[in-house]
Amino acid sequence: MTLSPVLILDFGSQLTQNIARRIREMEIYSEILPASTPLGEIRRKNPLALILSGGPASVYEPGAPALDPALLEMGLPVLGICYGMQILAHTAGGKVERAKVREYGVQPFSPANNASPLWQVFPAGSPVLMSHGDTIISLPPGFSAAGQTPTTPVAAMENRKKGIYGVQFHPEVTQTTGGVEFLRHFLRDICGISKNWTLKGYLDRHVEAIQTQVGSEHLICALSGGIDSTVTALLCHRALKSRFHAFFVDNGLLRKNELSELRGDLDSLGIPLEVIDARTLFLDRLRGVADPEKKRKIIGRAFIDVFGREAKRRGDYRFLAQGTLYPDVIESVSSFGGPSAVIKSHHNVGGLPKRMPFALVEPLRELFKDEVRRLGRELGLPDRFVSRQPFPGPGLAIRILGSVTEERLEILREADAIVREEVEASPHRSALWQYFAVLLPVKSVGVMGDARTYENVAAIRAVQSVDGMTADVHFLDPAILARISHRIIATVPGINRVVFDISPKPPSTIEWE
Ligand code: XMP
Repeated sequence: MTLSPVLILDFGSQLTQNIARRIREMEIYSEILPASTPLGEIRRKNPLALILSGGPASVYEPGAPALDPALLEMGLPVLGICYGMQILAHTAGGKVERAKVREYGVQPFSPANNASPLWQVFPAGSPVLMSHGDTIISLPPGFSAAGQTPTTPVAAMENRKKGIYGVQFHPEVTQTTGGVEFLRHFLRDICGISKNWTLKGYLDRHVEAIQTQVGSEHLICALSGGIDSTVTALLCHRALKSRFHAFFVDNGLLRKNELSELRGDLDSLGIPLEVIDARTLFLDRLRGVADPEKKRKIIGRAFIDVFGREAKRRGDYRFLAQGTLYPDVIESVSSFGGPSAVIKSHHNVGGLPKRMPFALVEPLRELFKDEVRRLGRELGLPDRFVSRQPFPGPGLAIRILGSVTEERLEILREADAIVREEVEASPHRSALWQYFAVLLPVKSVGVMGDARTYENVAAIRAVQSVDGMTADVHFLDPAILARISHRIIATVPGINRVVFDISPKPPSTIEWE
């Protein structure tokens, strides 16, 4: 059974995913599609409502992403947000121009005195986040103004008869007080959409979907030891039992003790695991490569090659399961199909070669990380496993800046083990999304004993995050930092200086490459 989504049309805003998150938190199923999606495809989704996201363009510029007017005639409730409201006004026959004053930041919002159903749970004077340079100067026929801020006379509009609404502010961010309640009120009360999305339902649907997709064939799965691939494996194992085969590729880019710990954990979960030793292949291919994107592509390709080889050796396996998550999908594809928004090629999406010998089974493709954790618990994973920090597919290779060698891997493994040990023994652990060491291709001078040293620098990264899309620096206790630094410099040959990374995401990313 396919679920009807609240469909979010993405006009290129950095905040589009926040809209999807907020709606999922209400247990309502939502999907994001590019604004350019053809009408037929949108119709086939059978959406319950349309939300038009914000975006960086101006509606009057040539090439600005457009809205198909037929979407407004489908009888669906529509909410336009920021650019979404402007494109709504423009398409329905209103006029949008550059504003005299650009409006950025939090403003008090005043609902119009017209008893609009929009504001039943949204008190007058609520602070709202505004971020726009254009404004509506004439409303489309059938629409009336529904609210204003001190600088924007049309900060909301509505056509109640058609159920089409627009707000210039961003309800999907925490800076807009009551924004989530506003969205909930819109979807639940105005659109009449009931809760339709739970993880238990997701689990049942996807077990069935895997059985349908794979039919009577076999499925193999690349386990990385992280939560994503493990939950993928549990789900696939539940669907296919002995026709599911879990492999673990030892790519030589693992953290200290990772393989032995993983073996123990999977054993207790009842998943038979086969380890393929591909250390030489990965390191050979990575030799002398310093460019982060090249590294990612090489690693992605090597994974597929190893699996292709192993699958062939065992029989004719056509299906490969991967723990691809929603943020991986979104961050690797630009909203408008262009290359500009590609930030990193996640090894399990952008790194795949064009012609792959496998059909992919990606049962977590619609989930955010915290939802995968909850699903893991639903599948019986112990808490200790579920709360593991994420570890990226390309492993330590993207934490060694510059080229990857066995010697550098060994240095990073030791330094990273110290960071993990100290953080895990501290109260910081529960607040952290990730904490790890990075090896920099920079040498600096030090003094040990009475001798001069000239060795590498290691950076410590410790961040808080909900889903990896944004992250805040978590400032570790100075005593812990000092202990980490002391232990690394004293015991890891090759490092004589330790620094702490104080950059949030954005503008930095969590991994250094
Ligand atoms: P960035 O560095 O993009 O990372 O801020 C966001 C989150 O994603 C993880 N990450 C990856 N996970 N394959 C993965 O499975 C990848 O290629 C990859 N790159 C980054 C990263 O550890 C962080 O949690």
